Amino acid sequence: MMNIPIRPRRNRKTVAMRGLMRETELTAAHLIYPMFVQEGEESTPIESLPGCTRWCVADIAEQCAQLYELGIRCVDLFAVVPEEKKDGAGTEAWNPEGVVPTAIAAIKAKVPDLLVMTDVALDPFNTYGQDGIVREYDNGGYEILNDETVEALCRQALCHARAGADIISPSDMMDGRVAAIRAALDSEGYTSVSILSYTAKYASAYYGPFRGALGSAPKFGDKKTYQMDPANCREALREAAADVAEGADMLMVKPATLYLDVIAALRAATHLPIAAYHVSGEYLMIKSAAASGWLDERSCMLEALLSIRRAGADMILTYAAPQVARWLAEDNA
Ligand code: PBG
Repeated sequence: MMNIPIRPRRNRKTVAMRGLMRETELTAAHLIYPMFVQEGEESTPIESLPGCTRWCVADIAEQCAQLYELGIRCVDLFAVVPEEKKDGAGTEAWNPEGVVPTAIAAIKAKVPDLLVMTDVALDPFNTYGQDGIVREYDNGGYEILNDETVEALCRQALCHARAGADIISPSDMMDGRVAAIRAALDSEGYTSVSILSYTAKYASAYYGPFRGALGSAPKFGDKKTYQMDPANCREALREAAADVAEGADMLMVKPATLYLDVIAALRAATHLPIAAYHVSGEYLMIKSAAASGWLDERSCMLEALLSIRRAGADMILTYAAPQVARWLAEDNA
């Protein structure tokens, strides 16, 4: 027998023992389900996001009732906008009869306790597929205007709050938008509507399947003058300090598994709750690898989400939310 006083394996010897030692938990209450809403009477499957659907308003409320049954307590709504409703300024974004405010009302009528979060950004609504208002120059150059965009985002946020949104989630990465949205909400008495700020949203190549779902890929250029450089972590702390000072209620890191260090850094730097977005490309990689038969979808998805929690995220936005909630319920049965 070797003389080894320290035997870490003792703490792993049975299922019950491992249960006592477990440091991180993943439950349905931690999950936020991103949902796509479209006009018309029909829901359609999303080719780029297997298992996900573009919901029509008539179906989304019923679907939300089922999600609530599964233990999911928050959804995040994204608009699918027909090309003919897009314009240079993205004005459809604050149409009170638009698909998002209509869906909020339908969901709130059916499942009042489900938290409804809404995406605030202009990319699904403007002809350029950019999150902000674009100014084009004669020499072919262009600029994404910051302050003009923030004004538009405030209109969009107010439109969602008036329809009954619980949480406004600006994903645009303009400077100063958290303070401006807070002031706009408060000016109309929506002091209890929360703001989840996309604090550290990176100019990632992993958003492709999402842009496919919405038809919102940028028509030219990229998003690098507002989304963050994937090389940077200190800069995320600077963004976080600004969001805290501007009154954000929650911070977000996006993508998630490729940026666990950023989640951990924010966790150490702030007391605010932290969300992480397991984005479309991260989801699709697991789904595709599982479809090939060489990865087990359930264990890989759960491991990925658990790693995000372990890094320090309180909540996770994931397209796998309903499936994960079902798996977790089976585990507890
Ligand atoms: C745009 C937005 C994007 C995502 C959420 N909001 C894409 C982008 O910035 O181009 C990506 C989500 C995903 O990939 O799952 N405001």
